[in-house]
Amino acid sequence: MWKFTTSKNSKLNPDEMVLDADNIPCHVAVIMDGNGRWAEQRRLPRSMGHKAGVENINKIVRGASDIGVKYLTLYAFSTENWQRPNDEVSTIMKLLVEYLRKELNNLHKNNVKVKTIGDISKLPKPCIEVLQESKVKTENNTGLVLNLALNYGGRADILYAFKNVFADYKKGKLNAEDVENLTEKDFSDYTYTAGIPDPDIIIRPSGEQRLSNFLLWQCAYSEFWYSNVMWPDFTVEYLYKAIYDYQNRDRRFGKVK
Ligand code: FPP
Repeated sequence: MWKFTTSKNSKLNPDEMVLDADNIPCHVAVIMDGNGRWAEQRRLPRSMGHKAGVENINKIVRGASDIGVKYLTLYAFSTENWQRPNDEVSTIMKLLVEYLRKELNNLHKNNVKVKTIGDISKLPKPCIEVLQESKVKTENNTGLVLNLALNYGGRADILYAFKNVFADYKKGKLNAEDVENLTEKDFSDYTYTAGIPDPDIIIRPSGEQRLSNFLLWQCAYSEFWYSNVMWPDFTVEYLYKAIYDYQNRDRRFGKVK
């Protein structure tokens, strides 16, 4: 059972697994990896792994929201995932549509705001439509931001930002001096994650320890947390353990204490 305390009156206690309510990461990003292997381990088709993966999302959304995480970014489909077999790509797209059609009212009722990062214009039309509907319906919600990374790649994000800067230069919104003096903060405002703080922690289940082109610009000072459990088996307990470990890390941001 997880308990919560504030940093003023208690130290984290590993026996009790106490989470510090004053040090909840603002932005948690998750690479939802291991659906395929989860299915293979059960001699099921990979599509069943993706289905189980989607069924896991609500629990994690609720668990994150319950403890006050503000942004939850889920890596759902990368710019490289198009290279998977066509039927797997269309399964993932169908699951996305099904999930949002089924859960949108619930997400809205729970004050969740749906956002996306990545070039969603290249997704199938039903995906674009349901994503648009989800964003419009939830745009004034003030709770957890559920940020879906779709047709997203970290390199594509940096290139997207660069092209946006150039577009503003061509329109005259920026002059040559503005571009020369562009700061890291200014550049961040041209990426897909404009307005969203950098992830405090990036979680990757499934045993792989790599970023796979996720949030490359934004992860400069993110804490990484890995687990061998496959995404469909990733429970709220794992999420809280990741946050517990995060709270025990010494984040120095390149400075000395
Ligand atoms: C990684 O597992 C998972 C994906 C590439 C797709 C995840 C996407 C979904 C579950 C659907 C998205 C839907 C919503 C609602 C966000 P993998 O297939 O790479 O697993 P493996 O490494 O074990 O093969």
